[in-house]
Amino acid sequence: MAKVKTIYVCQECGTTSPKWMGKCTSCGAWNTLVEEIVTTNTTKNISAIPLHKSNAILLKDISASEQARIFTSDSEFNRVLGGGVVIGSLILIGGEPGIGKSTLLLQIAMQTVGLTVLYISGEESEQQIKMRAERLNEQMADVYLYTETKVDLILHQAQHLKPDLMIIDSIQTLQVEGLESAAGTVSQVREATHALQNFAKSTGTATVIVSHITKEGVIAGPKLLEHMVDTVLQFEGDRHYNYRMLRTTKNRFGSTSELGIYEMRGDGLRPVSNPSELLITMRDEPASGVAIAVTMEGNRAMMIEVQALVSNAVYGTPQRSATGYDLRRLHMILAVLDKKCGFRFGTKDVFLNIAGGMKVDDPATDLAVVAALLSSYEDIPLKENICFSGEIGLSGEIRAVNKIEQRVSEAEKIGYQNIFISKFNTKGLKKSAKLNITGISKVENLVQKLF
Ligand code: TYD
Ligand code: MG
Repeated sequence: MAKVKTIYVCQECGTTSPKWMGKCTSCGAWNTLVEEIVTTNTTKNISAIPLHKSNAILLKDISASEQARIFTSDSEFNRVLGGGVVIGSLILIGGEPGIGKSTLLLQIAMQTVGLTVLYISGEESEQQIKMRAERLNEQMADVYLYTETKVDLILHQAQHLKPDLMIIDSIQTLQVEGLESAAGTVSQVREATHALQNFAKSTGTATVIVSHITKEGVIAGPKLLEHMVDTVLQFEGDRHYNYRMLRTTKNRFGSTSELGIYEMRGDGLRPVSNPSELLITMRDEPASGVAIAVTMEGNRAMMIEVQALVSNAVYGTPQRSATGYDLRRLHMILAVLDKKCGFRFGTKDVFLNIAGGMKVDDPATDLAVVAALLSSYEDIPLKENICFSGEIGLSGEIRAVNKIEQRVSEAEKIGYQNIFISKFNTKGLKKSAKLNITGISKVENLVQKLF
């Protein structure tokens, strides 16, 4: 009979202690002792285990059938997972409080007709969840609700109901029998995930776990959590805007470059299938300082609006500020424009903003940044139907960017008539009847072409 006991293990040197201490007696580190469960079995002698047949199989003998997946009715959610939820997989979803994790998962649970879903909440009461469900206004598919935090009871319930999909909201509220530490501590989170993982793998129940994130924006709890699960999703967005983005940061069953976009509305999250239309401001008349960039977010091309304001500096030191774009990159671009094109940004305040609260790190946005800066500097609006995609190098060269075909076809699909790209990207690019492609090699040339 296995006996369960708890010990405290120093995370620095591995020393064990029967009781908690502030300082490790062995290595002297502070606050490194973490509670762990150990099961003491009667010691087994390895050679005493009967070996009937080899359990190891040859790799080539394993049939590589596609993983069986569940398709939820949420196309964006399916997309970020690489085409549906893999049966028996463990998915971790992290995000700031109030970003909409519970809303997203409840909504998916309710929309997914034909599947049995068990929604476990340790954070909200049944009434609160019911109120949210009514707000979402979806048909109530077969969703079972269970407000419980004890892992044993949850797994017992799951064994009884045999759900296709189990949702845990959130891992930080769960408690494992036998551990004395409070819910949400490293050891509780780890043991709870372990139990859920065993259950998911042995019964084939796809399990989605909600996890809080820390102030620094990383998933709270041990890093081990991310190693244990199959897929890690981040739900993010600016609270002042209604867009929410679901990103994959780890996926054992698909690519990690996928991105799902939602719009938070009064009645829940709406998947956005055409983000470009959302991110570009509609204007009655063209404004100076605005340029459209074709960027890639994962495998998705989208048009985003870059806004620049260049004005005479009022104070001694000119200000530079960038929202949604790397400030150091802005400094670099200003220096290039100064040196190569003779624009005097040294006496100007420069503000740069990516519309819609988007954050971009695709270097292909550079060219649109240059265009927006110059347009504001000269106070001349750009023509409405132009967009840009190119990276700026230190010597003012315009460098080729990846996935150019996809960018060009997105621009064409949205109805742009001109696109400026690097000259080195034009080779082998299909000509299009509706879209005029201009290849340029240096920023100086862009200045001549634009005005
Ligand atoms: P919630 O799902 O509770 O966030 P999390 O679980 O990540 O902490 O999201 C709550 C926020 O979303 C709340 O501030 C209100 C807003 N919301 C809407 O705008 N529309 C809706 O239909 C719902 C249900 C919530
Ligand atoms: Mg919540």
